[in-house]
Amino acid sequence: MPVVEFNDIKFVCRKGALLRNVLINNDASPHNGAAKFLNCFGLGTCGTCTVKITGETHELTSVERVRLNLPPHKQEDGLRLSCQVRVQSDIKVEKFEGFWGQEIPK
Ligand code: FES
Repeated sequence: MPVVEFNDIKFVCRKGALLRNVLINNDASPHNGAAKFLNCFGLGTCGTCTVKITGETHELTSVERVRLNLPPHKQEDGLRLSCQVRVQSDIKVEKFEGFWGQEIPK
């Protein structure tokens, strides 16, 4: 069972679980502020569930390739849509500031 680390808290989940669901089910939202209520609920269109993932995961999905190339995101920032990522192995997850989590520290 993979372990997801988020804000120094660790959760165990089933392999293949959607990362956004794993976080929300553990009271660790991947959304900031009002985006907790104003989001697409996992359709992959709003871009507010972005996170940085350290560890092994799958390639960008086609949905991620589209949304992560639309403002305020840029695919080269290396963020992922937590609603599209299926947890395959142990990962560390970081959420950045901003409505979309787009304020990546320099
Ligand atoms: S919840 Fe909207 S893109 Fe992930």
